Amino acid sequence: MPHDQPPTLPAPDATSAAHSERVAAFIRERIGAAGGRISFAEFMQHALYAPGLGYYAAGSTKFGGAGDFITAPEVSSVFGGVVARQCREVLDQTGGGEILEYGAGSGKLAADVLTALRRMDTLPTAYNILEVSADLRQRQEVRLRECVPDLMELVHWLDTPPAAVRGVILANEVVDALPVERFVCRDSGVMQQCVAEGQEGFEFVETAAAARLASAVAAIEDELGAQFPDGFVSEICLAVPDWIAGLSSALDEGVALLFDYGVSRREYYAAERSDGWLRCHFRHHAHNNPLILPGIQDLTTWVDFTAIAEAAVATGFEIGGYSAQAQFLMAGGLDAELQGFAELALKEQFELSRQVKTLTLPGEMGEHFKCMALQKGAIATPSGFSLADRTHVL
Ligand SMILES: C[S@@+](CC[C@H](N)C(=O)[O-])C[C@H]1O[C@@H](n2cnc3c(N)ncnc32)[C@H](O)[C@@H]1O
Repeated sequence: MPHDQPPTLPAPDATSAAHSERVAAFIRERIGAAGGRISFAEFMQHALYAPGLGYYAAGSTKFGGAGDFITAPEVSSVFGGVVARQCREVLDQTGGGEILEYGAGSGKLAADVLTALRRMDTLPTAYNILEVSADLRQRQEVRLRECVPDLMELVHWLDTPPAAVRGVILANEVVDALPVERFVCRDSGVMQQCVAEGQEGFEFVETAAAARLASAVAAIEDELGAQFPDGFVSEICLAVPDWIAGLSSALDEGVALLFDYGVSRREYYAAERSDGWLRCHFRHHAHNNPLILPGIQDLTTWVDFTAIAEAAVATGFEIGGYSAQAQFLMAGGLDAELQGFAELALKEQFELSRQVKTLTLPGEMGEHFKCMALQKGAIATPSGFSLADRTHVL
């Protein structure tokens, strides 16, 4: 089943098209070496992270108006301001400590959190960043040197998770960027969507699901008490348990705050959601064909927060809270961040209102985006979860 480029997408410029062709050639080589097909997770891994080639590993602008999509820190510094307030609550309890950010993107959240913590006189002992993309590391450094030049001695880039962190771990939209497997349920059994080279580009081919995927799908069916119908397609992120285990072995005492778009497992695998949660973003156009534009479009999947919670509990975390982003922001200090609004010029008031609406309205980022707190040690849950904790739905 070849996937044609949806007609509404803008055409890539010549440089991007040439880059995408190099990424495609790399993936074709991997497919050839693997005997004719690779798993979808491997395809996604190469398309996003192949060194020097993948979407996150190469040099294009991804975040913000000039890129492909926008994240909460890019929408407004108010987001980082509230996150900083939550960090302060934890750092006060751990008697100081550090912040470790996974996947810092453009460095905007790091810059905003450090700026706000300095304002509140609660700087961490270190702000460490764990980033898989060499290109993004460079962009983060440029951004931070520009925004917080005097705090650069606190900022370090790490290759592997550190041990014995006391403080806060932050990850905004990182889990949605981990490679997923795609499965199709057939009356004959669980199949896996693999990627092969077709006549007109990459195409999906179905094969019997690998043992780990098949048993993960069977476990979901058992838990939900029903078999998926014939033709039901969805995703599963088999990388989550290891990723959460990495977080858990890093954190000795404190709170990990994970932000992402996602739902509970029951919602994730609901019958009406029979085409999965994978989405692609190219120049602010969302579509659902992951096989085109390799290396120049973002591939992302909504998060099964029940899977996060299970992996977290299995590796020694307590679930501190699970809340929609709007409630998290409102309970976590949004009003305090907006003090001084009345003194702003009218134009700035309009702009700030627009940003806050984007962060909090249900049809924007307020409801689909969630925040989850994973905790270790005798730490009170940050106040952002005091308004509407939905842990019970997981
Ligand atoms: C969707 S972007 C979000 C960027 C940023 N946090 C933001 O909100 O603007 C995903 C980020 O996670 C990074 N990433 C992906 N997998 C990662 C991993 N296993 N460890 C650390 N960073 C990772 C990507 O390179 C990228 O910086």
